[in-house]
Amino acid sequence: MCGIIGYSGHRPAVPLVLEGLEHLEYRGYDSAGVGYDLNNELMVVRAKGKLKNLSEKFQGERNALTVTCAIGHTRWATHGAPEERNAHPHLSNSKRLAIVHNGIIENYLEIREELSQKGYHFASDTDSEVLINLIEDMLSQECDLLHALAAALKKAHGAYAICVLDREDPQRLYAARLAAPLIFGQGIGENFIASDIPAFLAYTRDVVFLEDGDILVADSDSYQLWKSSDLTPIQRPVQQIQWSMQAAQKGGYRHFMLKEIFEQPKVISDALSGRFEGSRVLLSELDALPVPKRLHIIACGTSFHAGLWGQHLLEDWARIPVQVEIASEFRYKERLLLNPDQDIVLVISQSGETADTLAALRMANEIGVPTLGLCNVLGSSVAREAGAVLYTQAGPEISVASTKAMTSQMIMLACLALYYGYRSGNLGVDECLQNIDRLQRLPLMLETALPEMHSTARLLARKFSQSKSFFYLGRGHCFSLALEGALKLKELSYIHAEGYAAGEMKHGPIALIDPTFPTFVLAPHDVLYEKIKSNIVEIQSRQGQIIVLTDAESDLHGVDIWRIPSLEGPLGAFLILPCLQLFSYEVADYLGKDVDQPRNLAKSVTVE
Ligand code: G6P
Repeated sequence: MCGIIGYSGHRPAVPLVLEGLEHLEYRGYDSAGVGYDLNNELMVVRAKGKLKNLSEKFQGERNALTVTCAIGHTRWATHGAPEERNAHPHLSNSKRLAIVHNGIIENYLEIREELSQKGYHFASDTDSEVLINLIEDMLSQECDLLHALAAALKKAHGAYAICVLDREDPQRLYAARLAAPLIFGQGIGENFIASDIPAFLAYTRDVVFLEDGDILVADSDSYQLWKSSDLTPIQRPVQQIQWSMQAAQKGGYRHFMLKEIFEQPKVISDALSGRFEGSRVLLSELDALPVPKRLHIIACGTSFHAGLWGQHLLEDWARIPVQVEIASEFRYKERLLLNPDQDIVLVISQSGETADTLAALRMANEIGVPTLGLCNVLGSSVAREAGAVLYTQAGPEISVASTKAMTSQMIMLACLALYYGYRSGNLGVDECLQNIDRLQRLPLMLETALPEMHSTARLLARKFSQSKSFFYLGRGHCFSLALEGALKLKELSYIHAEGYAAGEMKHGPIALIDPTFPTFVLAPHDVLYEKIKSNIVEIQSRQGQIIVLTDAESDLHGVDIWRIPSLEGPLGAFLILPCLQLFSYEVADYLGKDVDQPRNLAKSVTVE
């Protein structure tokens, strides 16, 4: 949550920071701000609402163009309402220091009280303003800002990625991280610090991933890393990022979400690339680990739904019992029934920074159960802390609502199920070959089908966009897709929607069905087809409106039958999921909602 950026170099820093914030806006967008030094005075310009409100404040502002060092922030409110006075940067009492902060300082009330007694006053309700004043207070006791920062961070408990600007040394950035992402970008005669790579990808691909407990001090030409606990200097490798800047731009699509939906054929082929050799799936990342007797999949949001879908394949193909749990539930269980000798914990996270998922991973690591991370972001906390990592290689996902990341997670879960199935001897060579062939045919099938899917989604969206509520029903592997369909609709269009296992309808929810309450039924022509047909009849006989998503093989006829190419078995999900995504996208767009940045949401939930 929240995006931060700092720049020190030779370019006009304010426009660059504003541009960087645009790429971080997915992390939070209820207010934004920029801070810089002008003639030995720290200036802070902030605005409530979207970034464009902040940019407007700089129109005709010439002085700001002369500065070459600045910090910026885009906010997802935790402490304090999304008002301008709570927006970052925050100044210290003497106005010598300014801070941008992502995270939560848990003991801020205690520190605030202590500082108040010393005469400090506070203009906002935030923990961040408390932190910058704590640093200022330490500065009166320590020899320099680096030592003051380290001393303050020892006192502050919680999570943070911060960047601090000092009026007395205004070309230098001070940054630190603990349990929140922070990446240093090394340019030529310019340096960057940001919550995520796209913020500076247009300028450099050479990055250093800061680790928990790191402090970084950088000016335009040099940087130095320190361990915040004892201020010993440390080195971290400089890594080269392979993404192109295009990957983080809309590329002619109306929204990032639409672009990311249409990228899915490529995402599938990228994820599969280099993973097969004859009937074998190559997951060398896992070769050193035994095949688990039980797998625990832990995740949040859309990644949780991908895990539920993967459970089917892992149980069916690899015959491994799988338990899928929501990370925020798992982490507070009084007793974790994990067996370090037989189990593996698999955490799924697009960002690799979700607080609950990370906490669950750490608990599993502590218990000594082998852990595996499935994530998209290189160098993220999950990637660094899991025993082994499988990257989904979906490229940057900018739209807050996850689409292509889920598809890439499902592809890797399918590979995992084949890999374990083969290793444990539960899948024969022929079955492996057949499924590998199906997987490899997916990109072309999906690419061919997407334009028509989009047109149908558009027509149905017009018809159903005035509905107040929706059911999504599925059976078997389609149950997890029904949950995801409902989540997509509510997060994008704010229409209430619930996903249900179709067989559960008659145990209560069917009471809601009437002519104004539509149901979206997932009915591929598979082994459960006849069962789901019965559910459709039950709804029709109560005058409920229905959209049926089915395939070429089905014998269903009616008004809103949405037919897609048939693909036997659970891999049909790769054609069903994009339909659900497109339908939600079109409903939200038709209703004029902010598709890429729905209200109250953030892409990366780094707080509990
Ligand atoms: C947020 C996002 C969702 C995402 C979830 C888990 O709620 O809005 O799209 O599925 O976090 O994120 P992760 O990065 O762990 O997959």
